[in-house]
Amino acid sequence: MQDETQAVIVPISQENREACLTEIARITNIEVEVLQNDFKANAKEILPLYLTGEPTFKRLYLLGLGEKPTFPIILNAFQSFTHRYKSKLPKNIGISFKYNNESEDPAMTIEAALNGIKLGTYNIGLYRTDEKKECAITDEDASITVYSDYEEVSKIGDRVEAIADTQLEIMDLVNGDSNNISAEYLANWAVESGRKYGFEVTVFDKAQCQTVGLHALLAVNQGSELPPRFIIMEYKPKGLEGEGNLKKVGLVGKGITYDTGGLSIKNSQSMPYMKSDMGGASAVLGAMEVAAKLQLPIHLIGIVPSTDNCVDAKAIKPGDVISSYSGKTIEVMDTDAEGRLVLADGLAYMQENYSPDVMIDLATLTGSSVRALGYEAGAMFSHNDELANALTKAGEKVGERVWRMPLWDSYKKMLKSDIADIKNFSEKPIAGAITAAKFLEIFTNGHAAWAHLDIAGVIIQHSEFSSQRSATAYGVRLLLGYLESVCK
Ligand code: BES
Ligand code: ZN
Ligand code: ZN
Repeated sequence: MQDETQAVIVPISQENREACLTEIARITNIEVEVLQNDFKANAKEILPLYLTGEPTFKRLYLLGLGEKPTFPIILNAFQSFTHRYKSKLPKNIGISFKYNNESEDPAMTIEAALNGIKLGTYNIGLYRTDEKKECAITDEDASITVYSDYEEVSKIGDRVEAIADTQLEIMDLVNGDSNNISAEYLANWAVESGRKYGFEVTVFDKAQCQTVGLHALLAVNQGSELPPRFIIMEYKPKGLEGEGNLKKVGLVGKGITYDTGGLSIKNSQSMPYMKSDMGGASAVLGAMEVAAKLQLPIHLIGIVPSTDNCVDAKAIKPGDVISSYSGKTIEVMDTDAEGRLVLADGLAYMQENYSPDVMIDLATLTGSSVRALGYEAGAMFSHNDELANALTKAGEKVGERVWRMPLWDSYKKMLKSDIADIKNFSEKPIAGAITAAKFLEIFTNGHAAWAHLDIAGVIIQHSEFSSQRSATAYGVRLLLGYLESVCK
């Protein structure tokens, strides 16, 4: 360690604590008993040590990883460390895995650590005019040196850079307010991302939505000052575009840039966070971008129907009957159940025009899913065991969990309408997340490998990283993990 690294983070799990502290005691001349007393290696525990003389680095930060360091635990420990120390850290930092026994999965450990550091630099003060806190590790010429015996460190570094940069942008989209993040903004974001990373983007404006017949999206948009956008993204890996045997995955994301509830208006306490009602869209945009950056061997289509849901004389009214892209008519019992309306068009359009092998939609769809699972997991609905298991596994691995809920046909009767093909709300205060999923199912046209993820509880979180709930970039890692698992 005789380079310019002036601060080195030493992650330590409880399993390796004794051996590690003995080694640290030797190089620092601190009594091992003192270290053992002051550092238990609990997850996220930090012990800064200041060194004099040789070696050249001046600070060692022991960072606890707890009992069983999984990807999310390591990521969270590094994110927490960076969040707390970012204003103090010098621009050249190091992480040393050498004192710890190299874990069984060094690639995973290094990836989680680097990803955590990157996310820990996130600055949530998007619109703050007071001075931003200095953070040297985000300087152009900043560096992170990884001391490890693992050979492909630089490859992991590039991969994390690609993923984390996108996650940070996605957090801005979700935290950003609806005055700035409109349907048009999301469409421009997609166009720009497609241009930079090489995937095709088509955007329908309001007139094109009318021509194509996206009636349900247009109905939700009726009360808005701003026009809707229907964003279609298509990625194929370079050089493999003609390959017929690439797996085709379709992603659909709810892009409601603000949900007032419409005429079935929300109460004022639950409204401010409705700027994050485009969380499903953000996950789809992020997954598209990361897939293209990493050139995954997969054919990926992303669709985002986007508008805000506002109150106006022109807004749809409870009791109105609307049409949809599929041709099915919908009785709108509650204008606050707008997500399923725009998704109905997104799913039907995806199925009709792309027939993907697998179709996954993500949406901040119901308060009911939050009441069922809290902030710990997204609610997953699928008839397809293979898809459900793959998503569960991917989510567990990266700490973006999903938990499967039923889609039994017996729930469908709750959506029976006398006047139209279906109604958008059961009018009962039970099984809200499930009936929402049953509603969507109708517009998938019996797709055999469809999964719906209701992510209302996980897209923003209470955490140590902000005083209010804030974006998690949920979905980007989950979808990436899933896509990588199917294109292996
Ligand atoms: N965007 C909301 C769901 C939501 C609730 C997201 C809480 C994040 C946190 C959705 O459009 C909605 O309002 N759903 C209603 C549906 C009901 C009217 C059938 C709900 O869950 O109450
Ligand atoms: Zn709503
Ligand atoms: Zn909504």
